[in-house]
Amino acid sequence: MFMMVKLIAWGYKNVVKRMLFKLDPELVHDHMISLSAKISKNSVIKRVMRWIFRFDDKRLEQNVCGLHFKNPVGLSAGFDKNAEVHNLMYDVGFGFEQVGSVTLGAYEGNPKPRLHRLKKSEGIVVYYGLKNIGVDNIIPRLKVRSDKDLLLGVSIAKTNCSATAGLENGVEDYFGCVKKVVEAGVGDFYTINISCPNAFGGEPFVDVMSLGALLARLFELKIDKPVFIKMPLDMEWLDFKKLLDVIVRYPVAGVVIANLLKDRGNAGIKDVVTDDMKGGISGRPTSQKSNELIRQTYKEYGDKLVIFGVGGIFSAEDAYEKIKCGATCVQLITGMIYEGPQLVGEINRGLVRLMERDGYSNISEVVGTGA
Ligand SMILES: Cc1cc2nc3c(=O)[nH]c(=O)nc-3n(C[C@H](O)[C@H](O)[C@H](O)COP(=O)(O)O)c2cc1C
Repeated sequence: MFMMVKLIAWGYKNVVKRMLFKLDPELVHDHMISLSAKISKNSVIKRVMRWIFRFDDKRLEQNVCGLHFKNPVGLSAGFDKNAEVHNLMYDVGFGFEQVGSVTLGAYEGNPKPRLHRLKKSEGIVVYYGLKNIGVDNIIPRLKVRSDKDLLLGVSIAKTNCSATAGLENGVEDYFGCVKKVVEAGVGDFYTINISCPNAFGGEPFVDVMSLGALLARLFELKIDKPVFIKMPLDMEWLDFKKLLDVIVRYPVAGVVIANLLKDRGNAGIKDVVTDDMKGGISGRPTSQKSNELIRQTYKEYGDKLVIFGVGGIFSAEDAYEKIKCGATCVQLITGMIYEGPQLVGEINRGLVRLMERDGYSNISEVVGTGA
């Protein structure tokens, strides 16, 4: 099996990716989603994929916020915007998936082109702007779950339009979407995305007063599932900490660190990024800053908030580093696009190898050991 996975990794990097990377990135993404959606309905292919890709080991299992995670590796928000492929992600090897971001109103997305590959930097410039078909259309899809062991987080954002730009309207838009998801009982946990860099009016809730107003309103709802907040990346620690100080005043379970990178002067960016390539950057350039924020958050808020770490995970070593910084679970997208779908199983297998090397018997023992 190990040799077959190595062969798939080689084939993806040297054949499949070379072909796909010649095509428009959004076209490739759309085709991958529709192919995966079809495959997810075929139980035979699902079983074969699970046999090839998935790696399970008791030492990777954890109970977090009352939920049982089969492994700590999740699909980050933005890949499966409209809940089309969650019924294949267990077979690919994930422990959980963040669906969305979902919004109250549908949005067709910002003007194209809205994806650019940064091949040398191993990143993507993303300018979707919260494209999705709207919560009412997504809820019925979230009710169909073939693999209960794959935990589903519903990522919820503010509808991207001028009508929700003001504080009050913005709060009510989030509230309306969360209410629908809570009442429908879909998903195992919720993530409030306050940090999309590509939305009309910027990120108004990356601000102490507005975030406080938002959380006060959201927790008027009886929410009986864990709530996470998706944090911004481009923030100095002291400003980031101010947001955390607001967050810990509410029954928030944890934070997802972090969203896309806005700083184009980041040392990890090795490609020319022109002004017409609008959007935030994913992948390797996000990694270092994300690790710093995770480490600081763990040191000061590790007893109050669970951390999900995301940004630039391309290997088991990258995932292990984030866990050592303080992340209980990790999430990824770009690594899978650059390395192939076998990456998820490889990371889980590699985590067990690294734990054996360092003498740990469960992944939870690793959390924060490098903070
Ligand atoms: C194509 C794409 C779309 C994304 N859309 C969203 C989104 O809708 N909501 C969100 O919270 N994050 C979104 N993100 C950010 C990712 O969830 C993640 O935080 C970021 O890409 C860093 O992880 P990575 O380096 O593993 O890709 C998106 C990322 C990509 C690449």
